[in-house]
Amino acid sequence: MPITSHVAQALCAALEYAPERAGEVAQALTAPPSPALGDFAFPCFALAKQLRMAPPKIAAECAARVRPDALIARAVAAGPYVNIFLERAEATRRVLGAIAADPLRWGSRNEGGGQVVVLDFSAPNIAKPFHFGHLRSTNIGADLARIFSFMGYRVVRKNYLGDWGTQFGFVIYAWQKWGDTAELQARAIDYLVELYVRAYRESEADPAVREQARHLFLRLEQGDPQIAALWQQFRELSLAGFMQTYERLGIAFDSYEGEAAVNHLVDTVIGRFVKAGVAEESQGALVVQVSAVLGREIAPLMLRKSDGASTYAARDCAEAIDRWERYGFSANIYVVSRQEDHFAQLFAALTRLAAAEQWDSHWPATCENVSFGYVRGMSTRKGEAVWLEDVLDEARDRARRVREEKSAANPRAFPVLSEAELAYVSESVGQAALLYFDVSSRRLSDVSFDWDTVLQFEGNTGPYLQYSHARMCGIFRRAAAEGLGDFDVRAVVACLADEEWALVLALRAFPAAVAAACAGREPHEVARYLYELASAFNAFYNKHTVIDRADPATSHARLALVRAAQVTLGNGLKLLGIRPLETM
Ligand code: ARG
Repeated sequence: MPITSHVAQALCAALEYAPERAGEVAQALTAPPSPALGDFAFPCFALAKQLRMAPPKIAAECAARVRPDALIARAVAAGPYVNIFLERAEATRRVLGAIAADPLRWGSRNEGGGQVVVLDFSAPNIAKPFHFGHLRSTNIGADLARIFSFMGYRVVRKNYLGDWGTQFGFVIYAWQKWGDTAELQARAIDYLVELYVRAYRESEADPAVREQARHLFLRLEQGDPQIAALWQQFRELSLAGFMQTYERLGIAFDSYEGEAAVNHLVDTVIGRFVKAGVAEESQGALVVQVSAVLGREIAPLMLRKSDGASTYAARDCAEAIDRWERYGFSANIYVVSRQEDHFAQLFAALTRLAAAEQWDSHWPATCENVSFGYVRGMSTRKGEAVWLEDVLDEARDRARRVREEKSAANPRAFPVLSEAELAYVSESVGQAALLYFDVSSRRLSDVSFDWDTVLQFEGNTGPYLQYSHARMCGIFRRAAAEGLGDFDVRAVVACLADEEWALVLALRAFPAAVAAACAGREPHEVARYLYELASAFNAFYNKHTVIDRADPATSHARLALVRAAQVTLGNGLKLLGIRPLETM
């Protein structure tokens, strides 16, 4: 039984509550301001009203009636609170036991019970720059995908590529005018963006160009085979480029079907909006009014432009309906920033349609936009236009230099690595620096990026967490060399010191941190937790000797504690897409 439930039941007995109320008592439990004051605190304010007694008096009576047992050492009243002290050794045995029982799944829960969650993330545009928004979406979305599946959901990872829309008119125009096959093969994504920008610039000076681009896109929409073949080629080459980056990051999607793939459903869906009486004409365009649903003044959702072209919004309507029909999801989450209005309009229009057609009308409410803040200050050698690949290269090269400097200053702390190992470590540390930075604050806050800060081996950074993990692995290597490698992962120190106990408490908090990250769609909860865990480990390790040949029993127990910390840190890092390194 979890420790919290055990404590809640003991309190129930002391308060003469029915055992069914243990859940409610568990909810009320908090932690005292310092571990020296106890491990749980139960506030008596709510009871005071019922019993018409002063809270401190209730606390005193209740504390006197809590019966110590194998897990509960004692209860004392502290003002209006009942503070409970755990038997540290027994609690530790339970925590280490839970971790050892299934290390790879430690921290997971089956909250989802196999329900489907669709996660729409990354979604770069073909022939338009891949910008920071896409980088953050890729990272936060991939984290959420791992967190949801750890929580027992079936996750559908959807890369809804921006592979349709008027930008293709410009690209095709430019291609017909300036296209160079060798350039296209060599650097598809960059080259297509250049073509787009060049055509777009020309159209600003000459409106006839815009007209031609519009016409070309129309021909694409009508299925002109020559234009469609070009589009196909542009899409494939760009996707191949994006795939290299995804592979480098270890991210895979279940579907790369984007706006183009849903285009054939758009007319039918627009027809449904019209038939249901939800869409209306406005200045030649077809729109859905959503202000009334949202309770605020907001522009309508546009399904069709006055020139007859379908819109991004119309495609998203068709896509959302298709997802619902395909998966019957329990949540459909769009990890996209700075499109708050678009998604508010989209979900409201779907709500109106579902209500008017009288079908499964609850599902639009399970659609969510998970947005995030803006990153300031990142630029690479090539300047402000960021390509994920360049950022990753730069992170890798910088990580290598940082490690070189550090190992030159302190050779004993850094093993000599082969070139292959060094390459792997540099790549992993560079990625850790970038990926962790994104989640080191709550997703909605705007953040300032600084290369030197994110690459530090101390402080709240990805490399610090990796370094802590490598340090733990180093302890096991040394233990093996000293003949202490064979230890029981559940061994417990008889009388735990404060730093050991603080580490156990930190370990115990992991499943709750994962659950909070899932509930809040907030990978930062895991990041914050891992930083606390690593800090608790380092505080312990700086104070206590783990390997002592003269005292194998204590060594074994401390090794078991370090093993539990390493398992937990490793699981958490993996949720954030960061490689737990064994050496650094
Ligand atoms: N391609 C879009 C952009 O770069 C993001 C797409 C997000 N997903 C969606 N279903 N609208 O802005």
